[in-house]
Amino acid sequence: MENYIQRLPKVELHLHIEGTLEPEMMFAIAQRNGIALKYRSAEEVRQAYQFTNLQSFLDIYYEGAQVLIHEQDFYDLAWAYFQKGKTQNLRHAEIFFDPQTHTERGVSFDTVIHGLHRAQQDALSQLDISSKLIVCFLRHLSAESAMQTLKQALPYKDWIIAVGLDSSEVGHPPAKFKEVFDEARRHGFLTVAHAGEEGPPEYIWEALQLLQVQRIDHGVRCIEDEALVKKLAQDKIALTVCPLSNVKLRVFNTIHDHNIKKLLDKEIAVTINSDDPAYFGGYIEENYLALREGLGLQKQDFYQMTSNAIQASFLSQEEKKRLMHELDVVQ
Ligand code: HPA
Ligand code: ZN
Repeated sequence: MENYIQRLPKVELHLHIEGTLEPEMMFAIAQRNGIALKYRSAEEVRQAYQFTNLQSFLDIYYEGAQVLIHEQDFYDLAWAYFQKGKTQNLRHAEIFFDPQTHTERGVSFDTVIHGLHRAQQDALSQLDISSKLIVCFLRHLSAESAMQTLKQALPYKDWIIAVGLDSSEVGHPPAKFKEVFDEARRHGFLTVAHAGEEGPPEYIWEALQLLQVQRIDHGVRCIEDEALVKKLAQDKIALTVCPLSNVKLRVFNTIHDHNIKKLLDKEIAVTINSDDPAYFGGYIEENYLALREGLGLQKQDFYQMTSNAIQASFLSQEEKKRLMHELDVVQ
């Protein structure tokens, strides 16, 4: 089974590039940028990764991102993710980045996206991993700030497939960003949003109806609303579920309590993703393995969820067909 999981052609649809910053790289980049960290070693940083909820994680995650300043820093960050992905048979990734985390401290949008884009090009040519970028708005900041971020993204429309919504969920419903998402869609961006991670099912309804999203990020709390479950299944709205993240941030007490199999059995298009692998103890393959260990999922479950990810990606029909073929030959 481990061997089967290893060989599956993986597609990751929920990955924050700032969440791939491993403590060792945090130290190396801090040093070359002359930034003082409040930790003495990578080990000490890891020990600080004890989270009680989403906010307790976000505080540390935004702090870590402060070391990223130059285009090369963003390149190195993304390149390391792709290299790691190569060892797990990652074939395609749709990657979130949080411009406001950087522009708020004087790092330009252009610096961030140029570094990421260059790493994407190298990943395609050297590692045969394709990828797309999704600009995320920080929902704890204002709608005006999100609109400004959208304006900064417009010159790079060809490098960005979609807009998304992340950060502190409760108290910041999707409705707050309706106008920004309307404007983004007018410019041709696809849309996704984090909803139903800590927030209630109503936030998932809002993301669907007001933001007209193609996918829901997390979405695990949909299970509390039967009509919503029915709609997600019927409309084939994929959920980008992140098992290890959900346990680390106490959405579920343990991996054994995770509801992903229940959602799968309700015919919702769930997918397996890592969210912020450097913080949550595993990349995409470790998330697959955790579900094997914790829920005893079988080959057919992993086949289905991998197929769901291919189908829910923003790849062309032709590219999806090619990945489906790669999936179908794995025995
Ligand atoms: N939820 C909300 N915001 C985030 C997350 C998440 O899981 N990861 C990084 N930013
Ligand atoms: Zn996320």
